[in-house]
Parts: sequence; C-alpha cells; structure tokens
Amino acid sequence: MKFLIDDVNIEKIRDIYDKFPIDGITSNPSILSRYGKQPYKVLKEIREFIGEEAELHVQVISEKAEGMIVEAYKIVQELGENTYIKIPVTREGLKAIKILSKENINITATAIYTQMQGYLAGKAGAKYAAPYVNRIDNLGADGIKTAKEIHDIYKNNNINTQVLAASFKNSQQVLELCRYGIGAATIAPEVIEGLIKNPTVDMAVKAFKDDFEKLCGEEKSMLNCK
Ligand code: G3P
Repeated sequence: MKFLIDDVNIEKIRDIYDKFPIDGITSNPSILSRYGKQPYKVLKEIREFIGEEAELHVQVISEKAEGMIVEAYKIVQELGENTYIKIPVTREGLKAIKILSKENINITATAIYTQMQGYLAGKAGAKYAAPYVNRIDNLGADGIKTAKEIHDIYKNNNINTQVLAASFKNSQQVLELCRYGIGAATIAPEVIEGLIKNPTVDMAVKAFKDDFEKLCGEEKSMLNCK
C-alpha cells in the first residue's frame, strides 16, 4: 500500500517525510484554504522538497468538464508530470476524467462516496479513485467496506485503477485497508503520528536504555561502551 500525506503544511511534511516511508502528498481545496497561502507557491515548495518522482495530487475547482480540463493542464504545467489531477466524480467530472485519461494525464478521481462512483471513475480511465472512508462512516454507511468493494470491483473487472483511500480518523481504519492490500492511503499528519504512538513501546525502549546504562554508565551506547 502506498502511503501519502494528506496535507500541504511544509513543516509537517518535512518532519513526517524525515521519519516515515512516504510516497507523496495529496491536497484538496479545503486543505489549501486551511493553510492560507497562495496555492501554487505552497505546491511548488512541496514539489521542490519531494522531488520530481514523488506523487503530488492537486484538485481542480471548476464544475464543468471544459474548465476542469484547462485547469488540469495548467496544474501539470506548473507542477510537473508526476502530478495527479484530482477530479470529483460528478457527471461533468466523469467527462473530464474520460478525456484527460485518453490524453495521458494522471487522474485521481475524488469525492467518492459510493461503489458505483468508484466503478465509473475506473472505467473512465482514472489511475486512482479516492473513497472518503471516515466521511462515509459519518453518513451511517461503511467506509472501509466501500473502499474494499471498489478494490474488488477493479480486480473483478480487469480495471487497472488503484484505490487511494482518504479521510481517515484512526489507525484501525488504515490498518484494515493495508491488510486488505488496497493500492494507497492518504492520511492527515495527526493520524499518521497516531499510527506509531504507543507509550508501552516508549516504556520498553526506556527500560532497555536504563538497563544498559546500569551496565556501562550514563549516556553510553554500543559506540563507546567498554
Ligand atoms: O481529499 C479528501 C480527504 O482529504 C478528506 O479528508 O479528513 O476532510 O474527511 P477529511
């Protein structure tokens, strides 16, 4: 499962990239708005940091297919080939996905709440489809089940699209989809930190250090013990 950061805060991105095995960054208009800076300035800084090879996912704003297509080309022109254009799976969005995919623009179909949206986006040629796990749960449906079923639909229909699950609230949701082998997950920094946060592990590591220092002295390690 690919592992992406769902944020544009460059300080948080640098810190998480430094520690976790990260494959790229996703953004959406709300995330950009929360950060409050000029979108292309922020996104170019991210591109420079992650390099040309890593995935950067950026969403269009237009509601009509023609506008989405023009925006898509502008985004790729500004941010490079390995930029995935996020297009909401609406009626107009599907039209844009179909056209842009034929023109070899990488598409991430987004705002997916149903299996049928997932199927249609894959059939239209999207590289990724992003079901919103937690938002689906909040509607009283089952976000994990939706993501898994979209993954199954692709496999059973020979559709070469990966699920890029989004909108996670906790580690369990991430783990469940990782276990299932879905293609990718994009996760907010706070949830990423929660994946590894465990006071019991910290206590175990501290006990190892304390025991070693009892043997060899304070601040000693395998580098300088005798
Ligand atoms: O891009 C979609 C995803 O970021 C939504 O996440 O946490 O706003 O539900 P959230």
